Amino acid sequence: MDIIDVLLEDHAALRGEAEALTSPHTRARGGAPPDRKRLLGDMRAFFTLFKAHEAVEDDFLSEAFCLVELDAGQRAEFSETRRALAEALKKFGAFAVGSGGKSVEPMRDVALRLRDDLEAHLSCEERVVFPRLRASMRAAKLRDLGARARAGARRGSGVSAK
Ligand SMILES: [Fe+2]
Ligand SMILES: [Fe+2]
Repeated sequence: MDIIDVLLEDHAALRGEAEALTSPHTRARGGAPPDRKRLLGDMRAFFTLFKAHEAVEDDFLSEAFCLVELDAGQRAEFSETRRALAEALKKFGAFAVGSGGKSVEPMRDVALRLRDDLEAHLSCEERVVFPRLRASMRAAKLRDLGARARAGARRGSGVSAK
């Protein structure tokens, strides 16, 4: 299992958490009001996974990300998905902290936006960045990084301790 496989496992877990975060509240539209306590619990789980995943990407691939050759359009798309996702996360976090006792209805919309921005970022990495990394780095190096990322995850600093 190389580093790209590790990251793809993380992406699947993140998509699962984003779905858990948004689907009960999407279904709640027009029905029972969304449960704020549950939403906050789901948010915490999502943030934990997301921070661990970004840490793995930063720790193991930040240099490679800089070296990988993307054309101007791809580079702009990648930067834009990171920017949009960071902004959605900030809004989402601020909303959770500042909405004590208030309705969670607007929070649901922020959560849905976060899910969409997450998907745009993950799919950009999968479509644009990961294939370039695989093409430009030696397979042994990718496997070594994967083993180190998994060892780190087992020590509690990543999300792929499966
Ligand atoms: Fe990322
Ligand atoms: Fe990623």
